[in-house]
Amino acid sequence: MNAGLPDASVPSYWVPDSWQQREALQQPQYDDAIELAAAGAQLARLPPLVTSWEVLALKQSLAEAQDGKRFLLQGGDCAESFADCTSPIISNRLKVLLQMSLVLVHGLKKPVLRVGRFAGQYAKPRSTDLEVRDGVSLPSFRGDLVNGPEFTAAARRPDPQRMIQAHAHSALTMNFVRALIDGGFADLHHPEYWDLAWVEHSPLAAEYRRMVAGIGDSLRFMETLAGPIAGFSKVDFFTSHEALLLHYEQALTRQVPRHPGFFNLSTHFPWIGMRTAALDGAHVEYFRGIRNPIAVKVGPTVTPAQLLPLIDALNPDDEPGRLTLIHRMGNAKIATALPTLLEAVKREGRRVLWVADPMHGNTESTSNGYKTRRFDNIRGELDQAFDIHAAVGTRLGGVHLELTGEDVTECMGGARDLSETDLDRAYKSMVDPRLNYEQSLELAMLIVRKSVGGNS
Ligand code: PEP
Ligand code: CO
Repeated sequence: MNAGLPDASVPSYWVPDSWQQREALQQPQYDDAIELAAAGAQLARLPPLVTSWEVLALKQSLAEAQDGKRFLLQGGDCAESFADCTSPIISNRLKVLLQMSLVLVHGLKKPVLRVGRFAGQYAKPRSTDLEVRDGVSLPSFRGDLVNGPEFTAAARRPDPQRMIQAHAHSALTMNFVRALIDGGFADLHHPEYWDLAWVEHSPLAAEYRRMVAGIGDSLRFMETLAGPIAGFSKVDFFTSHEALLLHYEQALTRQVPRHPGFFNLSTHFPWIGMRTAALDGAHVEYFRGIRNPIAVKVGPTVTPAQLLPLIDALNPDDEPGRLTLIHRMGNAKIATALPTLLEAVKREGRRVLWVADPMHGNTESTSNGYKTRRFDNIRGELDQAFDIHAAVGTRLGGVHLELTGEDVTECMGGARDLSETDLDRAYKSMVDPRLNYEQSLELAMLIVRKSVGGNS
């Protein structure tokens, strides 16, 4: 691809496909280069999923979160699937995120920036390239963007046409979310729109309803004095996904008339996963050239000597809102792994938004073969994250969670104290275990208690 005339907003020697000169981890082996190029060309002609205006608005809001004026709530599935692109699953996920954000707004007394892990979260990193079952070895399932989950040679073949299907399913999801929100679904006057059928029986229902009633009273009081308040009837919702499959991301990287530089217009807020964040790797090369706000997952083995050059590469000008670091250490490791990173970034005076992902460092396997996470470990990591930031003098500006609006039993513990045997009942995740509706709401309430109680 040709970058055209020199443009100061594009880093030197960068073009949307310059990542191809670097080592690209976690990419499928496509067996037909012509088919791949044709799908890429088809994708490059299709309209984008978001606009540069929205992307820049989000960057501005993330800059405000860096200054402590907003709190980021980022959440959704570990892996979206084409089969789950349905009305109830999309709207239930939206309901949970809206309810959690209501709890957070009420408790933290600051605006919450809502970012879904959806409308494009279709590619997954895997620990092995091949999966072996009964002596048969096939490519691992890498998400619906790449291949199918069924254990057959046909399903597991990486298929470039899936990039077109993923774009379409992302557009369908986005269209529905936008229509719901534009139509008033997120109106603070009507939080009853977000009720999920089984919430009534939840041990947390009473606390949530008290909060909703309190907000309703304040809203009515203010509107009696001042008239209808604009802004309470609509909320912003942004999208994010792990920008893992670089052929897909490249095809949706565009230039637009009024804003210089290149934008990834497949999502507002792409992130680099922990396994593909090498400084000299293809993902960092790709990300440094786009103008979106971006995030990087930071695991427990990362050292300050690795993190600081990564910050330099991805945000050389220390631009506000540009870079979010999502730490995902694990309840057992956060106390030793996080402080030195926070101190180093603080010492260098680098501007980042720190966000906690208390999910990915706490995954374990049960004796009956389920991948699960204990609510107590998730909560424990989050509690420690608030305390460590407070001790170092940095700010925890948000959370990154895997959750669903469905009544699944994938994580253990929480208000209903789900146990190992409960996992059999409704384990649906194709990849990582998600918080169900109740566990998500409980976590939001705990965040409020923690940050108002000990970190304000
Ligand atoms: C994920 O967010 O689903 C994921 C794979 O996370 P990480 O890169 O932090 O392991
Ligand atoms: Co995950």
